[in-house]
Amino acid sequence: MKLEIKDLHISINEKEVVKGVNLTVKDGELHVIMGPNGSGKTTLAKAIMGHPQLKITAGDILADGKSIKDMKVDERAKLGIFLQFQNPVEIEGLGLLNFLNSARGAVTNEALNYKEFMNDIKTTSKDLSLKEEIIGRSLNHGFSGGEKKKVEILQMHLLKPKIAILDEPDSGLDIDAVRVVANNVEKMRKERKMGMLVITHYSRILEYMEPNFIHVMKDGKIVKEGGKELIHEIEKSGYANA
Ligand SMILES: Nc1ncnc2c1ncn2[C@@H]1O[C@H](COP(=O)(O)OP(=O)(O)OP(=O)(O)O)[C@@H](O)[C@H]1O
Ligand SMILES: [Mg+2]
Repeated sequence: MKLEIKDLHISINEKEVVKGVNLTVKDGELHVIMGPNGSGKTTLAKAIMGHPQLKITAGDILADGKSIKDMKVDERAKLGIFLQFQNPVEIEGLGLLNFLNSARGAVTNEALNYKEFMNDIKTTSKDLSLKEEIIGRSLNHGFSGGEKKKVEILQMHLLKPKIAILDEPDSGLDIDAVRVVANNVEKMRKERKMGMLVITHYSRILEYMEPNFIHVMKDGKIVKEGGKELIHEIEKSGYANA
């Protein structure tokens, strides 16, 4: 899927947070957004997914050339757009297995093959070094920070999106977990030729990934773009001159 963000302006409570962003992600491409806290990265990610609190005041979001700006979240999910949350919500009483199966059914419209589904969960959990017993617990309830992030990746694996936006998949992960998550995400991207937009503050995760483009977002705008070399520049001198 080709995702095009065109001169997008987003307001929250009448305050403009994203101020004219242009970005195109094609199949198989990995785009990375870096930038200071509060620059509008999460807001941009949520707007792509259709968060109802955000108001798009100008510009458009296109999926394969068609505007999705007025579509609801579930319609976008069915088209193949996936968002991994920076801060996944905890829902006590909603079993993780139940949640994964409901989401899978709603998004893919495929009938449940229980054995295949369970095998898939087991294999992927193992790949992610995620304890299998977690499947029997409530969604994110009492999960460690790392477990929450890994469950989001498990969800992405099962929902088979065409394009994924990962909002800080590495925050709160230990050194080994960063490598494990990055390797899994890259494997998925390559095997399925998925487009990806990864938001991160750290260069470490990018050591295990092959980004095509790095975008630096500052105060609601993309102020710098380039290849992997930009990461080292940012590491060295921060965002002051970006
Ligand atoms: N619901 C809201 N109400 C008011 N302001 C909000 C709301 N959500 C976001 N903002 C503001 O919008 C700005 C951009 O926030 P956003 O979460 O997009 O930043 P970010 O680039 O993802 O930052 P970080 O790197 O810290 O995750 C911030 O100043 C934030 O306080
Ligand atoms: Mg954020």
